[in-house]
Amino acid sequence: MKIEKITPRIGATITGIDVTRPLSTGEIEAISDALNANGVIFFPGQPKLSGEEQRAFGGQFGTIEAPPKLTKESELRDVLILDFTRPVGSGTDIWHNDASYLACPPMGSILQAHILPECGGDTCFASMHAAYEALPADMKAMIDHKTASHSTGRVLELTRSLGNPVYDDEETLAPRSHPIVTLDPRTGRRRLFVNPNYTDSIDGMSKAESDRQLAFLYDHIKSPEFQMRYRWSVGDIAFWDNHAVQHYAVADYTTRRRMQRVTLAGYAPVGIGATDVEMVPA
Ligand code: SIN
Repeated sequence: MKIEKITPRIGATITGIDVTRPLSTGEIEAISDALNANGVIFFPGQPKLSGEEQRAFGGQFGTIEAPPKLTKESELRDVLILDFTRPVGSGTDIWHNDASYLACPPMGSILQAHILPECGGDTCFASMHAAYEALPADMKAMIDHKTASHSTGRVLELTRSLGNPVYDDEETLAPRSHPIVTLDPRTGRRRLFVNPNYTDSIDGMSKAESDRQLAFLYDHIKSPEFQMRYRWSVGDIAFWDNHAVQHYAVADYTTRRRMQRVTLAGYAPVGIGATDVEMVPA
């Protein structure tokens, strides 16, 4: 197996591995370490996986969970199909962590390209560790111990306006507060955990002040220094740490792009000063 970094702060490519066969314990450890170190990893040139095969691959890294909204065109409830020819407004073209509105947002997502436009349809990824670390000290001090509320509000509005199905259960719809700065459970490294798709407001602040601070943070995470952009070929697989990385599917294409995703069950984000877990100081 060969692991090559794409940028110093985010992204690595893994070659010399066949995702259709069971992995050894050593391979699982090496891939998990690469994910932890790079936030998002890519397996280029893999065979197109069926939903069951993608589930089997992902299941070696955690528990596959059904995405909170109804899937389109998929027989398997826990395999999400993202199939667009007019992607603008699909909700994937806004920076986000998947399902950050859940009590336990997914630990990771595994996405494979099945049909691609001739040109365009790249995905951008941004490291929330790098973004946090580059914040001015006064901003860090302001957000370090605050929480923000997340919900599906804006995305469901969009989904309904496009006539797509919505899974209306209480777990999905209830707003949820998470620390704005969360800790990597393995290393204690700090990272930003607010995103323009699902974060509504900073708790305990006026709406105007919260909008101002969130706008600053959303502008900050757009810095190319924290980002990479992946140009897909059919069969390529991306695997991202959903608590450490945000992603953005570039909506610049007009012919079909079909991606298949499985999602790994996650955990409740932990903020600075949590007393019930042992952490390495950032
Ligand atoms: C997603 O938001 O999970 C999809 C990203 C993509 O289609 O590139």
